[in-house]
Amino acid sequence: MAGQRIQTRKDAIAERLGEARERTLALVEPLSEEDLNRVYSPLLSPLIWDLGHIANFEELWLVQTVGEREPLRGDLGRFYDAIENPRRTRGELPILSAAEVRPYMDGVRERTLEVLAEVELDETEDPLLREGFVYEMLLAHEHQHNETMLQLLQMVDRYEAPEEDGGPAGETVSAGPEMVPVAAGEHLIGAPEEGFAYDNERPAHTAELESFWIDRTPVTNGAYLEFMADTGAQPPLYWERDGEGGWLRTAMGRREPVDPAHPVIHVSWHEADAFARWAGKRLPSEREWEAAAEGASGERANLDQLGFGTAAAGAYADGAADSGAVQMLGDVWEWTASDFEPYQGFRAFPYPEYSQEFFGPDHKVLRGGAWATRRAVIRTSFRNWDLPVRRQIFAGFRCASDDAG
Ligand SMILES: [Fe+2]
Repeated sequence: MAGQRIQTRKDAIAERLGEARERTLALVEPLSEEDLNRVYSPLLSPLIWDLGHIANFEELWLVQTVGEREPLRGDLGRFYDAIENPRRTRGELPILSAAEVRPYMDGVRERTLEVLAEVELDETEDPLLREGFVYEMLLAHEHQHNETMLQLLQMVDRYEAPEEDGGPAGETVSAGPEMVPVAAGEHLIGAPEEGFAYDNERPAHTAELESFWIDRTPVTNGAYLEFMADTGAQPPLYWERDGEGGWLRTAMGRREPVDPAHPVIHVSWHEADAFARWAGKRLPSEREWEAAAEGASGERANLDQLGFGTAAAGAYADGAADSGAVQMLGDVWEWTASDFEPYQGFRAFPYPEYSQEFFGPDHKVLRGGAWATRRAVIRTSFRNWDLPVRRQIFAGFRCASDDAG
């Protein structure tokens, strides 16, 4: 029955909005007001800005746009606009304090749920509402802000992770060849018309690829250490000497020996590219990456944050792609050789500032999501992008080559 189905869809949306908010609040729960306000890096907003922005973006889309209502605090919008306010300036804005932001988040959410109860999601031609698109977009937005919040939390000394679920430590590590082949032929790239995806993943199209080989696992700390020793390359972000010739990881105020079996993380595109050339390989193009990821499981992958770190390279082999490559999803975002460019036939939706303004040779594409990515965000067609110098993101890589190497 249609009426019942609509109710179910709305209930599911309301429940997922609640779950997303729970996670956002859980991540900041251990922090003091001082921590929330502190500017740790010009590359990242203070956490207090993220909290207000999450609610303000929700108000803009789910209350003002969908519900055609006035905002609770119309004066705030311009301070929480991500384009108007670059990250390095966000610590100086007259934004809501820790005491004010929670009531604002709750107030917006209350109105969001009122609008949701009234809105028509099935019998509508409005592309913003059809299949609940705008709600999926808002869920993805909050989820993705959790990942940028975790980027900042890497810098918070003695951050106590809220509720570690034991994480990926217990996963069996598979053995296998260093590289796996992907046959020449046509591969489906991008997201289909049905279901939620961002504008930059569409339209879906086929790509004719030459055969190539791709690393079965992400590049490990152990391999990266060899590269550093051989070339004098800098260590990844959050590594420090242990005083005895070894290396420690220092993220979240912990000091632990670097585990050579884990994927390297917090490296720039330039470093990934230099490693690949040093290894006699290259970075995969994003289309090659997507072809190699066909069939990868997002369920059997180290995603969703609560493990608070990577799994060893070769873990989650039961989530492997059809190619045999493991960890294509989860653990570390993977730098690709590709610039962030629109697919042929791209149309900006629902606003050009999401993708279109970033197209061009300045940004490189990353694929696959990291341990810090919420599971609901990621799919093999998902395209992330960043400047090639960036290292605060949860980025590693794997290499490709034209032959078995
Ligand atoms: Fe945002």
